[in-house]
Order: sequence, then C-alpha cells, then structure tokens
Amino acid sequence: MRAACLGGGPAGLYFAISLKRRDPLHEVVVVERNRPDDTFGWGVVLSDETLGNLQANDPESAALIRNEFVYWDDIAVHYRDTVVTSTGHGFCGIGRKRLLNILQGRARDLGVQLQFETEAQDIESYRDFDLIVGADGVNSRVRASHADIFQPDIDVRACKYVWLGTHQKFDDAFTFIFEETEHGWIWAHAYQFDADTATFIVECSEATWRRAGFNRMGIEETIAACEMIFARKLGGHKLMSNARHLRGAAWLNFNRVLCERWSYRNIVLLGDAAATAHFSVGSGSKLAMESAIALASCLHTESSMEAAFRRYEDERRLEVLRLQSAARNSTEWFEEVERYLHLDPVQFNYSLLTRSQRISHENLRQRDSVWLAGAEKWFEKKATGRTPQVNHAPMFVPFRIRGIELKNRVVVSPMAQYRAVDGNPTDWHFVHYAERAKGGAGLVFTEMTCVSPEGRITPGCTGLYRDEHQKAWKRIVDFVHAETDAKIAMQLGHSGAKGSTQLGWETMDAPLAADNWEIIGPSPVRWSLSNQVPREMNRADMDKVRDDYVRAAQLAVRAGFDWLELHYAHGYLMSSFITPLTNKRTDRYGGSLENRMRFPLEVFYAVRAVWPENKPISVRISANDWVGPDGITPQDAVAISRMLVEAGVDLIDVSAGQTSTQAKPVYGRMFQTPFSDQIRNEAGVATLAVGNIYEPDHVNSILMAGRADLVCLARPHLANPYWTLHAAADLGYQGATWPKPYLAGRDQFYRLKARAEVMIGKV
Ligand SMILES: Cc1cc2nc3c(=O)[nH]c(=O)nc-3n(C[C@H](O)[C@H](O)[C@H](O)COP(=O)(O)OP(=O)(O)OC[C@H]3O[C@@H](n4cnc5c(N)ncnc54)[C@H](O)[C@@H]3O)c2cc1C
Ligand SMILES: Cc1cc2nc3c(=O)[nH]c(=O)nc-3n(C[C@H](O)[C@H](O)[C@H](O)COP(=O)(O)O)c2cc1C
Repeated sequence: MRAACLGGGPAGLYFAISLKRRDPLHEVVVVERNRPDDTFGWGVVLSDETLGNLQANDPESAALIRNEFVYWDDIAVHYRDTVVTSTGHGFCGIGRKRLLNILQGRARDLGVQLQFETEAQDIESYRDFDLIVGADGVNSRVRASHADIFQPDIDVRACKYVWLGTHQKFDDAFTFIFEETEHGWIWAHAYQFDADTATFIVECSEATWRRAGFNRMGIEETIAACEMIFARKLGGHKLMSNARHLRGAAWLNFNRVLCERWSYRNIVLLGDAAATAHFSVGSGSKLAMESAIALASCLHTESSMEAAFRRYEDERRLEVLRLQSAARNSTEWFEEVERYLHLDPVQFNYSLLTRSQRISHENLRQRDSVWLAGAEKWFEKKATGRTPQVNHAPMFVPFRIRGIELKNRVVVSPMAQYRAVDGNPTDWHFVHYAERAKGGAGLVFTEMTCVSPEGRITPGCTGLYRDEHQKAWKRIVDFVHAETDAKIAMQLGHSGAKGSTQLGWETMDAPLAADNWEIIGPSPVRWSLSNQVPREMNRADMDKVRDDYVRAAQLAVRAGFDWLELHYAHGYLMSSFITPLTNKRTDRYGGSLENRMRFPLEVFYAVRAVWPENKPISVRISANDWVGPDGITPQDAVAISRMLVEAGVDLIDVSAGQTSTQAKPVYGRMFQTPFSDQIRNEAGVATLAVGNIYEPDHVNSILMAGRADLVCLARPHLANPYWTLHAAADLGYQGATWPKPYLAGRDQFYRLKARAEVMIGKV
C-alpha cells in the first residue's frame, strides 16, 4: 500500500511507524511543513499506561521515549500564599521536540520517507496514494477540504492561553500557580520535561486578558508581563517562547474539535484533526498515538479499507468521547475558576484535583491517603468546629441549619408514590417513609404533597389541605421521630398546567381518561398538545393559591415536620411562573425575571411567616430548562437563587428540566451537580444536589469539593431503603444508627464485609 500522512506531529509519525512495523512493504510518506526541529510548545505529558501501549506496539521507540521521561508524582497548588501538595498522581513528561525527533528517527529507520518543509496544499495532489491520512492537527486542511462529509464541530473555548517554557525547576511536582492581579486572576500550569526545562502554560479569562492589555502586546511584552506576574515563583528565571514563527503574540483559544465522521473514500482523519482534548487533562498526544496504533492495526487486519475505517472509528470513538467529556469538565473548571477562588485552599485543591470527575474521593485516598485524611478533618472541623479524633467521610459529617441538625448529609429525595386516597397518605406511605427513615439517611423528604385538591398532579397524589391529612402525616412524622434519628421534610407543591394527569406508571403527564378537573397556570400555555389548556390565573386565583400554601404550611407545623420545601421546579405551578416558556403574562407577574419571580416570592414570604423560626425552608428549582437561551439557563438559576436567598430561603434544592417537552437534557453521572456547584459558589447559598448520584464515592466527592452541602438520592432509595447503612458499612463507618431490633443483622453485615475485604486482599 502507498500511504501519505499529511502532518508530521505525534499522530502522523506514529501512524507511519505503526504501519511500517506491521508490513515493511508498505510505502509510507510523511509530509510536514516545518523543519525537523521546529515545534510549537514545550513538553507533553504521557502516562505509564500509555507507555505500556507504545511498548506493545513498537518496543524500540518506546524504549527511547522511556529513557527521556521525567517522572513526577506530586501535584502542587500555589494559591493565596499557600502551597497544597498531594502525591500519588504518577505522570511522566517528555519534550515535544525530543518526542518528535525520536519518532522521526525511528520512522526513518523503518524506511518511512520524511518530507520536511513541504506544505500539503491540496489533497488532490495525493490522489495517486492508496491511503491519505489527515494528521495535520487541530486546524486540519484535510478535514476542511471535505467539511461536508466530516462535519466538524469546533467549539472555541473561552480562556486565552500561551504555551511558554522556563529553566526554573518544577521537577518536584506538576504545579498550578494562581496569581491575583489588578486585572483579574491569571494562572499557570507548569511541569518539568527534561533536566533543565519546564513547560509553563499561562492562562486567563478573555476579560482579564483584555484588561491586562495582552491583546495589544507582542510576544516580548507578553513574556515580560508574565515574568512580572509569576516573578515569585520563577526564581529569577526567564520565560521563553518557541512560537516566534507564529504571527501575533501566540495567545490562543483552545478549539475543541469533534467530527461526525472520520473517514471518506481513502481519506482518514487522525489525532487532533479528528478530535482534541484540552491540555489541562494532558492527553492530546496520548489520544493521537493510541489512535494511530488502532488505525494501523485495523488496516492490517481488516479485509478492506472501508471495514478498517469502520472498526477504527468503532474502537476509538468511545474512548475519545470519554476523554473529551472529562476534558470538557476540566476546561469548564478553569473557565469558571474565579467561582472557586473564595474557597479555602484545602477545598480549592480538592475541587481542582476532581475537576474532570474522573478522579473521585476514593481514587484520591488511593493516591494520597494522608492528604485526603487531612482534607476530611478540615471538612469536619469546618462543619462542627471540632477536630475529629477519628476521620469521617464527608457524607457522615452532620449539617446544621437554623435549629435543625442532620446527622449526615444523605437525603431521600422527594418521590411521588401515587398511592394516596383523596389526598390522604395511606399505610403504603407509612411503611414507605418509615422504612426510608430507618435506612440511615439524615433527611427524608415526602413526595410533592399538594396544597389543594385541584393542585394535585394525579388522583393518587398526597395532599395537605384537610385535618385528616395532617393527622395521617403526623402518624408518619411521629414514628420517624420516635424510632429513628432522621429528620423529615414536607415538600409542598401545586401542579398547575401539569395537573389532572395520570399516575406515574400509567401515561405520565397525560390527562385523565375521564373526570378531569380545571387546571390553572400563569398563562394559557398547555404542557403538550394532548393536555388541557390551563386557565390564566387572575389575582383572586393567586390569593387562593397563596392561602392554600399557607394553610398547608400550618398543617405541616401541626404534623411536626422538621423542614419545609417548596416545589418550584419541574414545570408545576410555581416553576411555570418562573420560566418564560410558560409565563407569557404582560402584567407585573410576567416579562422580566423579577416580574416572573414576584408571585413565587409572595408565596414564600407568606409561608415563611407561619413556619417556625427555628426550622429551615428549602426551595427546589429547575436550574436549566435545557432549551438554550429561550428558557431558564444555569446563569438565570443563579439570579433566581439570589432572589430566593434575599427573601430568606435557607437552601436551594437544585434540580433541572421537566419544564418543556422541547427540552434536550444532557444526561450522565451527576449530571445536574454542576448547576448546584454554580449556584452554591456564585450565589453563596447552601445547596442540595440531585440527579444520577448513586455511589457513596459520588456523594463524598460532591460534598468535599464544595459542589453541594447535602446530596439527594431518589431512585437508589427505591432500590434500597438502607442505602446509607450499606454505604456506612462499605466505608467502615461505625457511627450509623441501626434500629435496635436490627443490631444482630448489622453485626453480621459488618463481619461479612470485613471477611470479603480480606478475601479480595483489600486489607
Ligand atoms: C498548550 C498545549 C499543551 C498541550 N499539552 C499536552 C500534553 O501535556 N500532553 C499531551 O499529550 N498533549 C498535549 N497537547 C496536545 C498535543 O499537542 C496534541 O494533541 C498532539 O500534538 C496531537 O498530535 P497531532 O499529530 O494530531 O497534531 P500536531 O501535533 O498539531 O501535529 C500536526 C502537524 O501537522 C503539520 N501540518 C499542519 N498542516 C500542514 C500542512 N498543510 N502541510 C504540512 N504539514 C502540516 C503541523 O506543522 C504539525 O507538525 C497540548 C496542546 C496544547 C495546545
Ligand atoms: C418515582 C419518582 C417520583 C418523583 N417525584 C418527585 C416529587 O414528588 N417531587 C420532586 O421534587 N421530585 C420528584 N422526583 C424527582 C426526584 O426527586 C429526583 O430529583 C430525580 O429522580 C433524580 O434523582 P435520582 O437520579 O437520584 O433518581 C421523582 C422521581 C421519581 C423517580
């Protein structure tokens, strides 16, 4: 086969090597516009795992690369006159130029033709080749030449960065340095890559970049300014650029590249040309080289080029997407870093280390148990004012708000049961809530309980508008208080335009087959074409709804609930006032966010006035309508939260969606937690996170990083009411309270766990 690799970076060179190794008869040409020793940037980070893959593919070049590796285990974070160092992270680095020279030499030895200083102008001129590999980097011309087929999606990220080098030593740790300047925060990612040189990438927001005047500076001035900013850490060493051949000052925005397809006829994309991963997860070269191995291997084993390309894409796309997802989290963390700069250095460090969500609490324990133990102590001391004798996982640290103390930070999220009769909770509810309260969570929410019969979602929804409801709820609350040390919260809501619909396991949100009741909303906007059109509320309706809330809150006081939550999410009445998708009013309750919040706030004020001073009120909101700028965005959610906090709301329970049939949610592990993080750290309010959080490790990471104060789990508590007691056993926590009659079960459970751990060699 005759193959042309357009681009002689890690992808092109390593592919050429990999193909030649599989069959020396292949004729392979690498076309590179630069000279062999020209390169932008300084060092690249690889890992031992990647080196293992390189070793299996081509031991000769792997040995040469390994010889040049600089290893470091620590990550040091310089922030607010402190340096927080943790260990066990295991990186290795190599100079980019050295890496390319090794690959060039190896390619040459294998008989690859290297054409330097040759611009690949037009892929048509490579028509004679059997295979054309577009390995021409992030701005790939090959990709652009068939953009209609490859369909690139290029996301230009917000921060500005410049890739510099220095002879200052950063050989003891991968180092992050955050400096506050009069123009805003500027930070550096620094790591050693050979005996006397380190990469020093400087990054900041575009606003800071402009305020600092970097947009008007050439490279010399940029370097001089960066040297001043980081003078304390550079020890008198200079910063250097080797991108002087580039125009301007070499500041860039990172381009995240995705492509719908990676191949067309005999043309295939590889490396950054196909997909990029942000430099803060240090995996671009790894991706490029591992994809090069996969492509060469598929071409060798598959019967046709088409089949080879298909397998190459199948094999690599998932891995690429996984890394891009971690890289997106990491990119966004740096883009939003100013949100975290109020955090204590311990929590700031934790947040940074777990930013990609690939590293969890227990991963950190494996890496550096001493540092993590110190961080856990810090967390507990901050919450309780006492330094603990024995360390506890963050989920088992008590939480205090007003006069209420929760024994731990696990919450049973509100979940409609659809088992009520005329709004009355039944024995089903008694058993359901009693069982969850026995299961160890610090707080158990009731389902959305409706403030009036017409405010119910379905005929099976619970209510709190009659004395008999209050009595039935009191029986449940009394049991929880008498038999467990959990607290219990009442969630109050009104269904609005999503009312008069079928039970959850029938057709959700669809109107009843018969006997529908009249529904109301801020505007006559129906949930879907099959739903009733709600009657637009007038002031008298508002007065009634407000008074219904107040009556329900008073009944909740009499029932003895510890905590109240107002359900302002998921498209129900209050939520439909807040989102512009359903609030089309032109009076003082519609239009601006301030107007749309007017009625929900009025209800809150009225409820707060009758709710005991020593008990908290949380409000659940939908922090994202998932419809883009036409609906509520996470940034709007911060503004909503600020208004609620100003009014006296104690916590925001951060959910999302269910406000429009047009929503396009992006699901995933902990997918709503970023909204909680944003609200907590921008609006400065305590939050509850919820949504696809199901492992103790998730809960601990969220809490320790300051992304929420409490963590709600819904479906996991349907599968296992004893989720928290099991998590305690998994984590070896001895303080969880099991019901007395169950103690024998507890002892056996812990014993079996301990035995299983010995068997698998954990202890
Ligand atoms: C600031 C920064 C820091 C990074 N840090 C790391 C890191 O620590 N670890 C890591 O693994 N990755 C890192 N990367 C990413 C890494 O550099 C790339 O992902 C990797 O180089 C991709 O390899 P590639 O061969 O696909 O592309 P490139 O390395 O960009 O190579 C493409 C080559 O094609 C050539 N070329 C382009 N167009 C033409 C043309 N028309 N004709 C001829 N030649 C052409 C270019 O000159 C270039 O040599 C970093 C990237 C940046 C921007
Ligand atoms: C069966 C069921 C009923 C629910 N009912 C309510 C409810 O009454 N009020 C509410 O705010 N959320 C309700 N939710 C949403 C959950 O509280 C939670 O936000 C959602 O399920 C995501 O959490 P999870 O991934 O832990 O399940 C319900 C969820 C389920 C699965």
